[in-house]
Amino acid sequence: MTARLIRGTEIAAEIREELAARVRALKAQGIVPGLATILVGEDPASQSYVRAKNKTAHDLGIHSEQHNLPAATTEAGLLALIAACSANPALNGILVQLPLPRHISESRVLAHIDPAKDVDGFHPVNVGRMLLGEPCFLPCTPHGIVAMLQRSGVATAGAEVVVVGRSNIVGKPVAALLMQKGPGGNATVTLCHTATRDMAAHTRRADILIVAAGRPKMITADMVRENAVVIDVGVNRIGVRENGRAILAGDVDFEAVVEKAGAITPVPGGVGPMTITMLMVNTVLAAERAHG
Ligand code: GUN
Repeated sequence: MTARLIRGTEIAAEIREELAARVRALKAQGIVPGLATILVGEDPASQSYVRAKNKTAHDLGIHSEQHNLPAATTEAGLLALIAACSANPALNGILVQLPLPRHISESRVLAHIDPAKDVDGFHPVNVGRMLLGEPCFLPCTPHGIVAMLQRSGVATAGAEVVVVGRSNIVGKPVAALLMQKGPGGNATVTLCHTATRDMAAHTRRADILIVAAGRPKMITADMVRENAVVIDVGVNRIGVRENGRAILAGDVDFEAVVEKAGAITPVPGGVGPMTITMLMVNTVLAAERAHG
């Protein structure tokens, strides 16, 4: 039987509708949430992500300003811009698009953002709070995955969850959220990575398989348990169409796995829209907290 599609586009639209009401409530008090996005360099994928983030903010009535800096920007220059945004009361959220050019220290940059404006949830203070289960800004993709599971009726409590990939942006935090006590958590989590001895032996045990490895179609049907829920975080550019648009593939061999899984996210239209929406959730939350 063919798997049910978990459509991030639809779930994200539902969340945005709820969010628009919160933005209107803030505006009734004369408050407009503000987001600064900072992009260093000209990576086309990063450019398109940042454009999408600014457009979504604009559509929701969130003030957004996009700072595009040349690839040769110094670390000191970037830190100065972050300090200015941190000090600007019109801005509630600051997002520095990753990856950064090699001459800039990602950890110094992320630690320079005011934790109260860290809507990506990448500041070490927010990472620590997340791990402790304390109130914080949750990282957007992991938070989006948990919201997606909850809103599509996938129970995580007691489930065997296998995560493939140990990045700071997705793999590690999504594992931390799913093992947390409480709603959307309570799962038994295994995290696989490049040094895992027998990856398929783990993935085949998963009730919920989350793949964020950045390797196109690496998860084949034989690695997936019958009726598993498969969340594909991969967005790999595997070619270019005649019209110049990128051909995208996930980390999962969708055509084969859709015949075996119980539910699966498509690429595009799966996790991607959730990530952007959770950034908006965090930005509105930051504005509510700043004025609460
Ligand atoms: N690069 C890839 N994913 C992300 C993300 O969620 N936030 C930022 N800032 N950069 C990214």
